[in-house]
Amino acid sequence: MFVNVVLIVICMCGVCRYIVSDCDSVEVLFKDQHYTKTPEEAAAQTILAGLDLNCGNYLGQYTEGAVKQGLLDEASINNAVSNNFATLMRLGFFDGDPSKQPYGNLGPKDVCTSENRELAREAARQGIVLLKNSPGSLPLNAKTIKSLAVIGPNANATRVMIGNYEGIPCNYISPLQTLTALVPTSYAAGCPNVQCANAELDDATQIAASADATVIIVGASLAIEAESLDRINILLPGQQQLLVSEVANASKGPVILVIMSGGGMDVSFAKSNDKITSILWVGYPGEAGGAAIADVIFGFYNPSGRLPMTWYPQSYVNKVPMTNMNMRADPATGYPGRTYRFYKGETVFSFGDGISFSSIEHKIVKAPQLVSVPLAEDHECRSSECMSLDVADEHCQNLAFDIHLGVKNTGKMSTSHVVLLFFTPPDVHNAPQKHLLGFEKVHLPGKSEAQVRFKVDVCKDLSVVDELGNRKVPLGQHLLHVGNLKHPLSLRV
Ligand SMILES: *[C@@H]1O[C@H](CO)[C@@H](O)[C@H](O)[C@H]1NC(C)=O
Ligand SMILES: *[C@@H]1O[C@H](CO)[C@@H](O)[C@H](O)[C@H]1NC(C)=O
Repeated sequence: MFVNVVLIVICMCGVCRYIVSDCDSVEVLFKDQHYTKTPEEAAAQTILAGLDLNCGNYLGQYTEGAVKQGLLDEASINNAVSNNFATLMRLGFFDGDPSKQPYGNLGPKDVCTSENRELAREAARQGIVLLKNSPGSLPLNAKTIKSLAVIGPNANATRVMIGNYEGIPCNYISPLQTLTALVPTSYAAGCPNVQCANAELDDATQIAASADATVIIVGASLAIEAESLDRINILLPGQQQLLVSEVANASKGPVILVIMSGGGMDVSFAKSNDKITSILWVGYPGEAGGAAIADVIFGFYNPSGRLPMTWYPQSYVNKVPMTNMNMRADPATGYPGRTYRFYKGETVFSFGDGISFSSIEHKIVKAPQLVSVPLAEDHECRSSECMSLDVADEHCQNLAFDIHLGVKNTGKMSTSHVVLLFFTPPDVHNAPQKHLLGFEKVHLPGKSEAQVRFKVDVCKDLSVVDELGNRKVPLGQHLLHVGNLKHPLSLRV
C-alpha cells in the first residue's frame, strides 16, 4: 500500500511534548491527496491541527507564505517552536559542554554493547507468536534431539530479518547458525530464494526423513512485501507451500513451521495438517532473530507474543478492493469489512491469538454487572427510548469502575502472559462486534497466580462511533470478555 500521512507523537514522562510528521506528509496533503489548494494551506492547516515539526523542508518553505496570506498567525508558529525548543532543553542542548550532558557524548561505543545485543534478542523473543503446538511438539529437548533438519528459504536468513527502515546491525545471528550450535543439524534451503519459483524437494525431504525433528523456516522478504510493493496474494510465496507439505509428509519427527514475514499468510493448509505440529510467526525479528527463534524452539524462553492483526484466508483478497478503505462490512456489495472489529468471516488466525508452553486460566475477581448513568429529571433519555448517550453529554463524565481478573499459570514453566480485555457493545450504530478495551502483561512463575486490574472509564472505553462520527455510549447489555471468559454488563440510565 501507499503509505500516506504518518503523524508521530513523541511522549516523554507521559506528557506529549511535540508532534512531528513524516518527511513528505505535509506535501502529500497538497500534491497527492489534493486536500488543500496550495502548499501554504497545507502548512497552515497542519500547524493549526497541532503539528510542531515536519522532518522534510516543506514547513520551512511555505509557512512564512502562509502567514503572509493570513492563513496562520505567528502565535501558532511560536507555539510549535517552543515545543521544539522545550525538547532541546530537555536533552541538555543549552546546558554547556555537550560532552558533559547525558546524551551529548553518545557514540559508536554505545551501539553494540552486550546489553544492547541482549536487548535485540529479548525484543525478538517477546515478539514471537506461537500459533499451533500439538502435544509432544515444542519445546524440543536439546539433549534428546540427536539430529535436526533445518529447511527453508529463510532458514539461514540474515538481512531479511531486519525488514526495512532499518539501521546497520551489529551482526546477524541466523536461525541456522544458532540451531547448529545447539544440536547437530543438516540444512537444505528447499527454494533458491523466498520467491521460490521452483521448490527443490529432493534434499529437503531426504534430510527431513532421517532427522529426529524438522524446522522449516519460510515466509517473505522485502522482495515480496514492502512500501510500494503489495503482495498479489496472501499465500506463502511461490512453491513454498508445496515445499512445506512435502517436507512435512516426509518428516520422521515433529515439524516446526516458522513463518518470517511482515503481513499475515494464509497457512490454512498447515493449520489443518497433523504432521505440522507447531507453527510460529516471528515477524522480521531483527539482528538476533535467529537466536530468539532457537530460544523458543528449545524451550529456553516461553513465547507470549500475540498476533497484532487478523490473518485472512486467500478468498478475502478477492472480496476486498484495495481502493475501499471502509472498516464496516457492506452486505449489499459483499464487502467483508476489515479487522477483528468488523470482519465476521473465517480467519486463518485471529487478532490476539498466541499461546505459550503453559496453560493459563482467567477468572473474574471483581466486576460490576450493572452500571447506572445518573441523568437529570429533564434529560431526554429519561422519557424517550434512547439507544445511546452522547459522550459529550455532561452526564457522561467520571463514570468509572474497576475490573479485577485472576490469572493462573497452571503449567510448570514460568511465562509472561498478556491479558487482552475486549468488549462487545450492544448492536446499535453498526458498532464493532468486538473492541480491545485494554491489555496488561504479567509475568507468572510456574504454578502461580496474579491479579490484573483494569480501570474502565465508561464514557471513553465503552463508547462507539455512530453513523455521523459522534462518539456514543450504547445503553443496554455489553459483554466483557477475556479468552473464553465472558461477563455481561448492563448499562442503564
Ligand atoms: C548462511 O549464511 C551465511 C551468511 O550469509 C553464509 O556465510 C553461510 O555460508 C550460510 N550457510 C549455509 C550453510 O549456506
Ligand atoms: C507422502 O509420503 C509417502 C511416502 O512416505 C508417499 O508415498 C506419498 O505420496 C506422499 N504424499 C504426498 C501428498 O506427497
